[in-house]
Amino acid sequence: MELSAAMRSTGAAREFDGRPVGDDVVYRVLDLARFAPSGGNEQAWHVTVVKDGAIRAAIGRHVLPVWNEYAAQRAAGYRPFAPGADLRWHGAAIDLAAARASDHPSTLVDQLVGAPVLLVVSVRLTALALMDVDLDREHIVGGASIYPFCQNIMLAARDEGLAGVLTTFVVREEPAMRPVLHLPDDHVLAAMIVLGHPVKHVTRLRRRPVEEFTTIDRHDGPVFGGASTDPGA
Ligand SMILES: Cc1cc2nc3c(=O)[nH]c(=O)nc-3n(C[C@H](O)[C@H](O)[C@H](O)COP(=O)(O)O)c2cc1C
Repeated sequence: MELSAAMRSTGAAREFDGRPVGDDVVYRVLDLARFAPSGGNEQAWHVTVVKDGAIRAAIGRHVLPVWNEYAAQRAAGYRPFAPGADLRWHGAAIDLAAARASDHPSTLVDQLVGAPVLLVVSVRLTALALMDVDLDREHIVGGASIYPFCQNIMLAARDEGLAGVLTTFVVREEPAMRPVLHLPDDHVLAAMIVLGHPVKHVTRLRRRPVEEFTTIDRHDGPVFGGASTDPGA
């Protein structure tokens, strides 16, 4: 499909019809995704295609308490796991241990671990240039060498008529997932991506317009776009 159409319609899908997705399709998706950029072209990603039902179930068991933590923070009116005004994480405003223990079954978690394709994306942390590592705030730059690859997976899947969702719940359970996935010491979890034939294809994504997030010269400069754009450029 047209790249522009794919970019406009690669939304999150969490419900899949029963149709399986062949390994040949998954291979093609990864074969396109590998052209993603990464710092120093290290390409430090690893993808684990999780097929084993017992491993999927283990992922589900570990993800469920994290989902409970997330949902409880939202229900209490907080942005889950967001840093404070000092750009540091100081722990949640609610009792996370209690939230974890609340034994709510989750159709979302069941849908995710039951999806036709379940990919765990990890990255060799020692290969990354963490350019913001000395800044007195939470760090984000390391992710820049792995999430373009993840988004390429989503776009390539879209091109195959598939949809899915990138999730990060599993990362919070990295220590527990290490022995389950035989994750090497120098690898860390980045995402769990599930794919399949969606029950419903997204046609319109709700996103802010360019004018709302783009300015000229300074963060508080004039809005870029509309009347201010140079039609001759
Ligand atoms: C870094 C990241 C983490 C996400 N984690 C989750 C997740 O754990 N569970 C989930 O259901 N969706 C997750 N999502 C999907 C977002 O909820 C989704 O991209 C967003 O709501 C926009 O949805 P739309 O593309 O359908 O409009 C994640 C997306 C990103 C980029």
